[in-house]
This record gives sequence, C-alpha cells and structure tokens, in this order.
Amino acid sequence: MKIAVLPGDGIGTEIVAEAVKVLNVLELPLEMEEAVVGGAAYEAKGHPLPEATLQLAKDADAVLFGAVGDWKFDKLERALRPEQAILGLRKHLGLFANLRPALCYEQLTHASSLKPELVAGLDILIIRELTGDIYFGQPRGRRTAVDGHFPGAEEAFDTMRYSRPEIERIAHVAFQAARRRSNKVTSVDKANVLETFQFWKDVVTEVHAQYPDVELEHMYVDNAAMQLVKAPKKFDVVVTGNMFGDILSDEAAMLTGSIGMLPSASLDANNKGLYEPSHGSAPDIAGKGVANPLATILSAAMMLRYTLAQPEAADRIESAVRAVLAAGLRTPDIHSEGTRKVGTREMGDAVVAAITGKTITG
Ligand code: IPM
Ligand code: MG
Repeated sequence: MKIAVLPGDGIGTEIVAEAVKVLNVLELPLEMEEAVVGGAAYEAKGHPLPEATLQLAKDADAVLFGAVGDWKFDKLERALRPEQAILGLRKHLGLFANLRPALCYEQLTHASSLKPELVAGLDILIIRELTGDIYFGQPRGRRTAVDGHFPGAEEAFDTMRYSRPEIERIAHVAFQAARRRSNKVTSVDKANVLETFQFWKDVVTEVHAQYPDVELEHMYVDNAAMQLVKAPKKFDVVVTGNMFGDILSDEAAMLTGSIGMLPSASLDANNKGLYEPSHGSAPDIAGKGVANPLATILSAAMMLRYTLAQPEAADRIESAVRAVLAAGLRTPDIHSEGTRKVGTREMGDAVVAAITGKTITG
C-alpha cells in the first residue's frame, strides 16, 4: 500500500511527522513517500502543486496531507498561492466527497464554547461536495459591468453551478453513510433564493426515493448555521454543497472544542482518498512544537478505514487517542486545569505508546 505524504506549510510538517510515526508502529506493509506541496513547493519548485507531487499523489493508493498556506504568499497571483495545491489535488484526483466528522470527545466537553450539555456526545458527519459549486464554476474573473447597479464600473464575478450527476453522486454518499449511522440526512441548501440549490434540493429528493429507510430533511443554510449552535445534536449526517460545506464544517468543528481534533477524508468514486486535518497551517504557531497532532493522527486512522481497508488498525489508533485523552494529556489548544500540557511530539509519542501497550501517565 503506497501512501503519498504531503506535509505542506506551517504546522503541516510537525503534525504529519507524528502521524507517520504512528503509522510506522502498526507493522503494516505501508510504503510512504514524501513530496513538497503548497508554499513550500512554491519556494522549492516555483509551483504550489509541482508535476512530480501531483504524479506521486495519482500513483499512490492514498494521500496523507498536512496543511497549506502562509500570509507571506498572499500577494502572489492566485494560480501560485498555496491554496491552489489542495484545490488542484481535489480536482485532478476527482475527490468529490469530503467527509468531516465533528465528534465531541467526552474529556473535551468543557473545551467547547457552547454549554457542555449542548455538545456532550455530539457526533455529526458533514458531507461536503468538494469539486463543484462556486469554487470551480466557470466563468469567473474581473470585467467592466455592462448591466447591474453600476454599468461601466469594474466588477468581479464567479459562477455557482451544479450538474445532476454531481448532485446525485454526493447524495448517494450521504444516504449510504446514513445507513451506517442513524438513518437521517439533512440536506442544506438555499433553494429559496438560488436556482442552483433548488435543483440541488430536487435531485437530492429524487435520489432519496432509493433510500426509503433513511429520513431526509431539507434545511436552508442560514437556518442550519443557527441550528448548529442552538441544538447541534439534532443533526446526524449533513450533506451540502462546496461553499456552504466549507463554512458549516468550520462551525461544526468548533462545537467540539478544538478544530485541532478533527480529521477529514476526501474521496473519489473508488474510495481512493486524501486525508487531512480539518484545520489549516496555523503559521502563527508553526515551528514551536505546540500544534495538536491528533487531527492528523485521526486522519491517518480514517485513511486505514476508508481507503486501505484496515479497520482494526484504524480502531487501534482511535482507541489510543481516547487513551491519551483519558490519561489527561493535552496540547495547549485543548488544555484546561487539572490536565497535563504537552507538545506536538510528546502527544505523538503518547499515542505510539498507547498503541504499543505501554502505560501512559498524565
Ligand atoms: C478547507 C479550506 C480550503 C477550502 C481552502 C484552504 C482552499 O478552507 O479545506 O475547508 O476552502 O476548501
Ligand atoms: Mg474551510
């Protein structure tokens, strides 16, 4: 099993190193090869997604990704910015289904900005369509307006669009995921205003006819944003478009206390996937050894489960993460009184120790 390891920028290199360490103790036939991506790749090779990196990702069975981005690249033309690396990988690998679980760990209930009783036991799965919508729709650009409120003025525009097959395939992913959970899907749209999302709602409803055992609810995105902070536990599987999913998944992540805990999977039609933490490159804390590696370690577990068909190995990692939390180890982002503050490396070592059966002391 070949894994392309793409650490990227900022804390990316530190957290991916811990996930690799964890994968290495599992004694599985994994072959890992590393390549530059994002700002690091721009600096080394002049492009955020060099041809060699893309080829490695294409040839591999799965991709383990850290994070990309740094303010110092904000002035570059869009095509050379670090974010283009992840957008390019999603597009070129056809990774249309983004699974972002928001799970509130028992020991971290008090780390949430919401009242503990609202988030205790929270377990939501956000399924975000990842290769369509306004993120990729053409045309886009700048021009002189010929109509609108200010004809003759400079304007910018993007195109929101979804085709029937794009909606159908993500709807299938959502209904099938619901069958493995509690048989409930909330489809989030803006059908009251947007043509694209009236179509989304219609197609999701049609696909639902094939899943009579699954309950389907439709919700407007503004209401969904509100319900997520009002009564998050009412949700189970949430399926939505690329842009709404970007926004709602950050919101859902924060409910759990720390975005530093949440893994994600981006899958193609054959379950090949790219696995990355839900958080970004956090340049402000990069190089300090304080970043939380657990989201990346849990992403490696998702990779074993979804793409590499190694559910026992995935279980071992997930149990080890619970064990280190139970032992009271905390990186600064989830630290609270009465727990022990540890750095990135120490947290990774503790997970390794838990997997290999050593005693962990808090
Ligand atoms: C995410 C990120 C990306 C996105 C950026 C880095 C392009 O916010 O994965 O959610 O907008 O999809
Ligand atoms: Mg985002």
